[in-house]
Amino acid sequence: MAGQERDKDELDKDTVAKAYARWAPVYDLVFGSVFERGRKASIAAAERIGGRILEVGVGTGLSLPEYRWTNRLTGVDLSAPMLRKAKARVAEHRLTNVDGLAVMDAQHLGFQDGAFDVVVAQYVITAVPDPEATLNEFVRVLRPGGEIILVNHLGAETGLRAAIEQWFAPLARRLGWRPEFRWERLERWVAAHGGVKVIERRPMPPLGHFSLIRFGRLGGEFAAAG
Ligand SMILES: C[S@@+](CC[C@H](N)C(=O)[O-])C[C@H]1O[C@@H](n2cnc3c(N)ncnc32)[C@H](O)[C@@H]1O
Repeated sequence: MAGQERDKDELDKDTVAKAYARWAPVYDLVFGSVFERGRKASIAAAERIGGRILEVGVGTGLSLPEYRWTNRLTGVDLSAPMLRKAKARVAEHRLTNVDGLAVMDAQHLGFQDGAFDVVVAQYVITAVPDPEATLNEFVRVLRPGGEIILVNHLGAETGLRAAIEQWFAPLARRLGWRPEFRWERLERWVAAHGGVKVIERRPMPPLGHFSLIRFGRLGGEFAAAG
């Protein structure tokens, strides 16, 4: 992406952290059920591989009790207030399969190369300042043959929805996300990276404006599609 386009697109980390400090007390009420189908679908996709699962942008930890006990879970998030809720949930549900929860920036993960079998990011990739660098980091901490599972709103390519998303974008920045982020941007990242492939992209509710996306790290076997 050209420098100018990236500047225009910038979403800074402090704005996002402040936005989620405000969301934390009401997050589960507002986004708990509306995003539930996507969360469950991404967990099912992650469990096709299973093992060491990293949830980036784990938020209040809504998905943590939904994973099978056989998986080892690690969660990270930029927002300490969101993460405090996740820690309370882990204690409340006695989730002994959660190895750790830590405040961490998705773009600078404090894990070794190849440390995880799956990286899951639910409703996160359009909220990070540099989505491409963040995806590069996901690949780094993934073992060959492992998968990145994203579920996210994707912007419309054309038409009225695209125009509304462009119009809404400046306000949405202050709420901590990019409504106009399109699939083609992820396709460009895959082409530029060279070490990953798209395994699946499928529409998700609400309204089919969301997608479940699976990227596979090249160099190993992938779970079958579908
Ligand atoms: C829309 S919430 C999704 C939370 C959770 N995954 C869910 O499904 O409910 C986005 C989360 O991403 C986190 N986030 C945003 N930017 C981040 C970054 N650079 N590094 C880590 N987490 C980030 C936010 O703090 C927030 O908790």
